[in-house]
Amino acid sequence: MTMKITGTGSALPERKVTNFDLEKLVETSDEWIQKRTGIAERRISDGETVSTLAADACRKALEMAGKTADEVNLILVATCSPELLLPCCACQVQAMIGASGAVAFDLNAACSGFLFALNTAYAYLHTGLYKNALVVGSEVLSKLVDWSDRGTCILFGDGAGAVFVEASADEMVRGNGRRAGMECMVQGADGAKGMVLSCAERAVNNAFTSQKQTQSPYIYMDGQEVYKFATKQVPACIQEALDKTGLAVADVDWFVLHQANVRIIESVAKRLKADIAKFPMNIHKIGNMSSATIPVLLDEWNRGGRIKEGDRLVLSGFGAGLTYGASILVW
Ligand code: UT7
Repeated sequence: MTMKITGTGSALPERKVTNFDLEKLVETSDEWIQKRTGIAERRISDGETVSTLAADACRKALEMAGKTADEVNLILVATCSPELLLPCCACQVQAMIGASGAVAFDLNAACSGFLFALNTAYAYLHTGLYKNALVVGSEVLSKLVDWSDRGTCILFGDGAGAVFVEASADEMVRGNGRRAGMECMVQGADGAKGMVLSCAERAVNNAFTSQKQTQSPYIYMDGQEVYKFATKQVPACIQEALDKTGLAVADVDWFVLHQANVRIIESVAKRLKADIAKFPMNIHKIGNMSSATIPVLLDEWNRGGRIKEGDRLVLSGFGAGLTYGASILVW
């Protein structure tokens, strides 16, 4: 049993915030941000929420797949910024789109979240438990960002992306002889290094505790440590996935990477000795949207007609946890 992506969708807040807008908030410059990150602008929520963005992205993915909400078996939402702790975002999405027959739950692996959710869906579909799933990455990071911290506020944006995946028993062979579907996945976590990228939730605070909140409720990041982790771990896990499948870098058509920093993507391409033209990027216009970056980029590339049947894709992400992963699939 294999799994194919049959629909993609994305949703972004209307409001654009440029680097010039940020110059008015913190001591920074458009030149510094573009040079160090590749980001020129990002979308920031002005009312859109993690669940409304996720639901919009899901509707578009379903429409592309030619499916209706009542046919959905499973909804997995990857997010680290839900508007509610309870109920989970996936259940909100279920209600919003009317997928009353679906099982729904959230998963948090930060920027690797979409990839981990996709792999979780694959595990369900591969074993025959469910026939299809909506897999979503959705974030409103703007509420977790300290807008006086120039080291982080310039990086992040809000948005959502979704894919509809279907189990398929038939080994569909594409024109180029490749079998459509998931080929391999590699995942990992290094919790011991987790505090280099963190964000605290509410502290225990009641009549029975002497604990006091000491951590900032906003995103804290040691940028250089995360940078070092990403540039080492991402190429290593892509190489591990390629080795597992007996494939070479040359067998891959697209490397769809988490959009955190253009320099990280360029470094990964260099370490893999891969052509940078195979690494689609959209970070310049939407910044780092954590779990949403990979599905939003996938949707843009798919709707733009860039991904063709039979293309082999590597999806790879990294993020807080620290977490990382790579999946290989044929479109
Ligand atoms: O999804 C995962 C999320 N996180 C990441 O992927 C983050 C990975 N890390 C990075 O992308 C980079 O480390 C950053 C873009 C965050 C920072 O770039 P950097 O080249 O590592 O800069 P740095 O932290 O080494 O700082 C260099 C200088 C410092 O000034 P001094 O000490 O040299 O005088 C910073 O204070 O740049 C300063 N700086 C800024 N200047 C202007 C830091 N942020 C800014 C800013 N504007 N926004």
